[in-house]
Amino acid sequence: MEKIYIFDTTLRDAEQVPGCQLNAVEKIEVALQLEKLGVDVIEAGFPISSPGDFNSVVEISKAVTRPTICALTRAVERDIEVAAEALKHAERGRIHTGIGTSTYHIYEKLKSTPEDVIRQAVKAVTYARKFVEDVEFYAEDAGRTEEEFLARVVEAVIKAGATVVNIPDTTGYCLPNEYGAKIAYLRDHVPNVDKVVLSTHCHNDLGMATANTLAAIQNGARQVEVTINGLGERAGNTALEEVVMAIACHKNINFETGINTKEILNSSRLVSSLMRMPVQPNKAIVGRNAFAHSSGIHQDGVLKSRQTYEIINPADVGVDESSIVLTARSGRAALKHHLKLLGYEPDEEELNTLYQKFLELADKKKDITSPDLEVLIGSEKSRNTAIQLESLQVICGATTIPTATVRIRQGETISTNTAYGNGPIDAAFNAIKNITNRDVVLEEYLVQAITRGSDDMGKVHVQISYKGKICNGFGANVDTVTASAEAFLNAIGKI
Ligand code: KIV
Ligand code: ZN
Repeated sequence: MEKIYIFDTTLRDAEQVPGCQLNAVEKIEVALQLEKLGVDVIEAGFPISSPGDFNSVVEISKAVTRPTICALTRAVERDIEVAAEALKHAERGRIHTGIGTSTYHIYEKLKSTPEDVIRQAVKAVTYARKFVEDVEFYAEDAGRTEEEFLARVVEAVIKAGATVVNIPDTTGYCLPNEYGAKIAYLRDHVPNVDKVVLSTHCHNDLGMATANTLAAIQNGARQVEVTINGLGERAGNTALEEVVMAIACHKNINFETGINTKEILNSSRLVSSLMRMPVQPNKAIVGRNAFAHSSGIHQDGVLKSRQTYEIINPADVGVDESSIVLTARSGRAALKHHLKLLGYEPDEEELNTLYQKFLELADKKKDITSPDLEVLIGSEKSRNTAIQLESLQVICGATTIPTATVRIRQGETISTNTAYGNGPIDAAFNAIKNITNRDVVLEEYLVQAITRGSDDMGKVHVQISYKGKICNGFGANVDTVTASAEAFLNAIGKI
C-alpha cells in the first residue's frame, strides 16, 4: 500500500468563499477536528491577506501539533516573510508559494513572459527555503498549462529546493484522463521528480474534482488537496470524504490514507454548521440520504444482507443512525427491524396491527422516527378494547362555539353525542362524559410534541379522578384533539 498524503485546505480555499468566513476561535475548532480526523497537512490561511488570517495561522500553529501547518503566499518576497512569521510557532511549518503558468495567467493576468514566470518561481522557492525546510510550489492553472512548459517550471522549482509540487486544475477544466496524463507526463519527463511529492488540487467546475484527483494518484501524485464537504471557490474543491472513501473501498488500487474515517461525519457537520453551508441531502458519503434506503425492495435487500445495496458500512464514516428509513413505502420487514432496535419484538398479530397504524401515520407524517414508534407501541399496548373512539368531529375557531360530536363503541354498542365546551378539547371531553355517563374530574392534562415539525404527533397524558379513584390515560395522534379524546377514553376505560 502506498500512502496518500491528505492536505486539507478547508481553512484556506473554502474559507475564502463568501459567507464561509470563520473567526479565529472557529478556525481553531475546525483545525483541532482536522487533527482528530488525521489529515497530514492543514492549510491554515493566507497570512498576508489580512491581520485576521495572519493571527489564525499563528493560533492554529500553537493549537495543533501533529499535522504540518501550511501558509499560502504569492511568489512575492513580502508574502513569504509574513507567512514565515505566522508559522513561527508551528512544530512543522510549510510555505505554499506559486505563480500562474497558463498563457491566460502569464500574458493576461501577470502581463509577463514564460521565462520571467520561471525566474519568479525559482526566486520565490529559494527565498521560502531560507525560512522553512518544507516548501510547496503551486503552478496556478496548471490544468490549462501546456505540458512541456509545465515540466520546465517543475524542473526549475525542484532545483530551487521545493519539496512538494502542486499541479492545480484551478478552473476545474480537465477531464480525468487528461489530468492523469499531465501528472504521468511530469513523472516521466522531469528530472529528479522522484525527490518531490507531486500534489493534486482540483476544482469541481465540471463535477470532476474527485475523478481527476483519483486519476492523478493513479499516475504518480502522492498528495491530494481537498476540503471537507468539497467546499471551495465557485463549485468547490475535491471533497476529502469522497477521495478517502474511494481509496478505502478500492483496496485493489493499493493506496491508503491516515484518515480516521469514523471522524468523517463529525468533521462534515462541524464545517457545515460553522461555515453556514448546508450539505445537500444526496451528497456522497456525508449527505443525509447517503446511506438511507427508502424503497421497500431496497430495505428488504439491505436487511437480508447490507452488501446488496451498500458499498460502505455507514458506521465506518461515523454514521450510527439506522440506514433503513421509515416512510409510507416501507414494508413490514423494515418496521420489524426498527421495532427490534427499540427492543420490541411483536408477534405476527401485533406486528400487523402496528403496521396498519404505522401506515396511517406515515401517510400524514413524512419521517417516522424512533420516538414515533415508541408512541405507536405505547398506545397499542395501552389500548383499551372495551371502549373505543369510533369517530370525532369538532368545530372550533375564533368566532365559533366549540362543538364536538363523538362516537364511541362499547362492546357491541355504538353511541353518539354532541356537546359544547370552552374549546374543542373541553367539548370532546364533555361529549365523552355524556356518553359514558361518568362525571369524572380531569385532574391533569399534558400535551407534548414528539420530535419537531408542525406535522409531528402530539402525545397526551391525562389523569382523572372518579369517586376517589385515580386513573391515567394516554393517547397519541397527529391530531391533538383526537389524541386528547383517546387519552381521556383510555383513562375512563380503566375505571
Ligand atoms: O486553485 C488554485 O490554483 C489554488 C492555488 C492557490 C493553490 O487554490
Ligand atoms: Zn484552489
